[in-house]
Amino acid sequence: MPEKMKIAVVNGPNLNMLGSREVETYGTLTLEAINETIRAEAAVLGVDVEFFQSNSEGVIIDFIQSCRSSSGILINPGAYTHTSVAIRDALAAAAVPAVEVHLSNIHAREEFRGHSYIAPVCVGQISGFGPFSYIAGLRALADHLGRRR
Ligand code: DQA
Repeated sequence: MPEKMKIAVVNGPNLNMLGSREVETYGTLTLEAINETIRAEAAVLGVDVEFFQSNSEGVIIDFIQSCRSSSGILINPGAYTHTSVAIRDALAAAAVPAVEVHLSNIHAREEFRGHSYIAPVCVGQISGFGPFSYIAGLRALADHLGRRR
């Protein structure tokens, strides 16, 4: 039996506040509720998922550095999307396929959100579908990984 793919699901700053944070933009689901939907989709896809959230750039980088044996990374870097060369470098160094996801459509909001330091080191970016962005991202990542086998 081939080993199951393991996908790390990484959430950045303020995403622990989902459910109560700017609900008109991010919706009413908590991060735990979103993770439940990801867990259910992962079971359908036959992949393992590991969840991680931090508000700190360095802690996120330490986690990404520990992901070298993961098959893939699904990441919502939150506001670090628009500021963090360090998280981008960590993803590039990990050399693990990554997909960037956002609940909101970052290209339809303030101009500063339209730029991602992370997207160029990812397979692709999914943005604007609310919690379904994570599901679409997981499917896209699993498809990408399956095709690389
Ligand atoms: C976000 C978009 C970012 O611009 C913002 O800073 C977030 C959430 C999203 O999922 O839509 O924290 O990543």
